[in-house]
Amino acid sequence: MQNFMSKVAVVTGAGSGMGRYLAVLLAKAGCDVVLCDVNEDTLAGTAKMLANYNVAVSSHLLDVGDEEAIKALPEKVIAQHGKVDLVFNNAGITIDSDFATMPEPDWDKVMDVNLHGVVNMSRAFLPYLQERPEAALVNTSSIFGMIAVPRQSIYHATKFAVRGFTESLIKEMKDSSVQVHCVHPGHIGTNIFAAAKVNPAPDGDASPSLLGRGDATHEEQGAAFREHGMHPSRAAEIILSGVRKRRGRIFVGLDAKLIDLAQRITPMHYEKLLPLIFLPLTLLRNKKALNELPAEPS
Ligand SMILES: NC(=O)c1ccc[n+]([C@@H]2O[C@H](COP(=O)([O-])OP(=O)(O)OC[C@H]3O[C@@H](n4cnc5c(N)ncnc54)[C@H](O)[C@@H]3O)[C@@H](O)[C@H]2O)c1
Repeated sequence: MQNFMSKVAVVTGAGSGMGRYLAVLLAKAGCDVVLCDVNEDTLAGTAKMLANYNVAVSSHLLDVGDEEAIKALPEKVIAQHGKVDLVFNNAGITIDSDFATMPEPDWDKVMDVNLHGVVNMSRAFLPYLQERPEAALVNTSSIFGMIAVPRQSIYHATKFAVRGFTESLIKEMKDSSVQVHCVHPGHIGTNIFAAAKVNPAPDGDASPSLLGRGDATHEEQGAAFREHGMHPSRAAEIILSGVRKRRGRIFVGLDAKLIDLAQRITPMHYEKLLPLIFLPLTLLRNKKALNELPAEPS
């Protein structure tokens, strides 16, 4: 797919982070955008950022964990926009927790959003994408769909599954008009960590601090995660460039590329290489937004 002009794109998780900037950059490229998020306020904030682009925008309060709501969405989109050319299954959450003490509803929640949401959206929209002369299904996994760390068992279970599901679809759809992509971001400075539930470690110790400071609050860690990652507008630009270039796997950031290389070189001991990758890149990474984009609503 060479360009997004006059196409219609559905973006889940469009209220924040990469989803918000996918929506902005698609609108800037002349694409009509269907914004979906579970958060009404941030969804409205993204719609506001798109107001000055000359494209049609619709907003849908959608929980991607709600299968019935997903089943009803394509008909609404067709009624409002007449067609669907691109679907970005971007919405995602995490919970920081040891597996042994993790309440089952926590497990089910992340499974519903990160995996069932992607699968149900793909099932609901593929028949409509297949009607188009060219179309794209873009599923977001993570670099944590390539490697694993402690206290993220549910996130890894979903992100490895999204990768397996999507890579199988890439092969199934290779002779069709639908291009399928799996996105593997590294560290992107978004709200995902601030929004995450954190369960205490079984021995009562705080979970390992992102800042290397045991006394940092969750709020401080969430702010540091946002501050030190690549700006989500840059991540969105890389994702859209990967779609234009028809890359099956889209790695976002040098950290993602190097971590993927590390797990190929040493599949069982890559964690020893992670500090060498993360620390220098935290200093080098481009944390500034792309130029000439609308400001985020306060
Ligand atoms: N930020 C990173 O470093 C990083 C790295 C790898 C992968 N990812 C993945 O990228 C994707 C985007 O995350 P982000 O970092 O921009 O996070 P974010 O928290 O900034 O944005 C996620 C959005 O998804 C929405 N959302 C959450 N639950 C939802 C639900 N049930 N239904 C609909 N929307 C829902 C949130 O309201 C939010 O607007 C996620 O799939 C995430 O797992 C992020």
